[in-house]
Amino acid sequence: MKILHTSIECYPIAKVGGLADVVGSLPKYQNSIEVEASVILPFYDNAYTKQQQFKDLYTGSILMNDVEYPYTIRELISVNIGFPLYLVYIEGLLDRANVYGYEDDVKQYIAFQLVVLDWNIHTTEVPDVIHCHDYHTGLIPFLLQHATPYESIATIPTVLTIHNAQYQGWMSYDYLKYLPSFNHDVIGLLDWDHQINPLAAAIKCADRVTTVSPSYMKELQRNANGLESLLSHEQAKCVGILNGIDKETWNPNTDPMMVKNYTVRTVTSGRKENKKWLCNHFNLDVEKPLFGFIGRLVGEKGAELLPEIIESAIEKLAINILILGSGNTDTEQRLEGLKERYKGSYNAHIGYDEKLSHILYSGVDFLLMPSRVEPCGLNQMYALRYGLIPIVRRIGGLKDTIIDIGDDGFGICHDQVSVYDVVHSIERGLTLYTNQKEFKRIQQYIMSLDYSWEKSAQQYLNEYESLTQTHTNG
Ligand code: ADP
Ligand code: GLC
Repeated sequence: MKILHTSIECYPIAKVGGLADVVGSLPKYQNSIEVEASVILPFYDNAYTKQQQFKDLYTGSILMNDVEYPYTIRELISVNIGFPLYLVYIEGLLDRANVYGYEDDVKQYIAFQLVVLDWNIHTTEVPDVIHCHDYHTGLIPFLLQHATPYESIATIPTVLTIHNAQYQGWMSYDYLKYLPSFNHDVIGLLDWDHQINPLAAAIKCADRVTTVSPSYMKELQRNANGLESLLSHEQAKCVGILNGIDKETWNPNTDPMMVKNYTVRTVTSGRKENKKWLCNHFNLDVEKPLFGFIGRLVGEKGAELLPEIIESAIEKLAINILILGSGNTDTEQRLEGLKERYKGSYNAHIGYDEKLSHILYSGVDFLLMPSRVEPCGLNQMYALRYGLIPIVRRIGGLKDTIIDIGDDGFGICHDQVSVYDVVHSIERGLTLYTNQKEFKRIQQYIMSLDYSWEKSAQQYLNEYESLTQTHTNG
């Protein structure tokens, strides 16, 4: 069973958030069962690709708005990342340093999708299923089935995984001119609310729609940024499959990015060394419990509440707080602004830093995740693997992975995204921390939990099999 994953993020080539972690690890686990999974990604001219070698596999060209764009498919050959990785290079368009943030990103995404399809009509290695991730690759199912140039591959089944339904890729009908000719009787499949909506088009056209946790699938029926009725209508082909984590990259015993490695047996002494490094580096008190946050500073993560949470918690409790994140400028400035006032109890690194995130996972005592929306969330699973107790809002994947200590579980959960709820959870964390025997028992217990990809990789395979059988029979 050959699966081609199409995405615009993939760890370690291009990462902004969890999408990269999933696309960079699921195929690896799929390749250990009866799946031959590969990934196709835009080419990025960044620090990682500069150090690698590629083999040019295929050159072709696509037409967008009557302009011809030559492209090259480059295969990564200098390192084995667990699956074949193909990068689409188009000079001046798919050769940028960053994943997001360009004015012509709609054009970039369309070009990428046209190349994926064009290459598939020319290669002999046609996949059994094309697996699209998020709206950036959401036009593929529609174009595959209805655009004239791809008639020869129109029956390949497609899967769409929704990692985040907040972003849908809305575009005006002016962009139609960038698409190849297609059957205009079905133009309505592209539409949602009088705009082209790539996520909606993919929900309508993909043979299977998955989300990254079962709870998020249910929540989308009520809250999907305008697509609630569509998702309810398409319910029969929708399924929630929980993400897993890459146990090799995220292994506290071997992780090269942390200060001191440890195992379940040596967790207390190991974590202490990492915490000491953090406290020295960020001028914090190693004796106090350390609460951390790692993530995008956006509304979905409840990040704009962090400044008030910090004020309220530090004023009344003997704790330290450390933040690693970037995003909303106002939140960034408010978090920077609190540093002077709470010197010695609070600090923040505003920015993206992969290595530092690993040190936080291995040295912070509790991880705050007051998310408003959390389709799955990987941070809480990395936290468990590293023996760091998660404090989460009961939503989406957080609800599916974390059980409260009050229910014989191992984390701290709250229901609302409010300063009150989070500070109350921090107080519960502090109480747990003062009972060091119980705190250590939980640390060791969570490290033994298994949130790897094995089970979910099998669930994806079951979905692919049901699709390829339907297509063969029908
Ligand atoms: P999302 O994809 O919504 O941002 P996830 O929990 O799925 O959330 O994944 C976030 C990923 O990005 C994790 O690997 C996390 O460690 C990482 N991450 C987020 N912000 C930062 C940052 N500022 N520096 C380093 N890593 C970060
Ligand atoms: C999205 C979601 C996050 C999820 C990640 C990987 O970015 O916001 O919850 O873990 O995708 O699926």
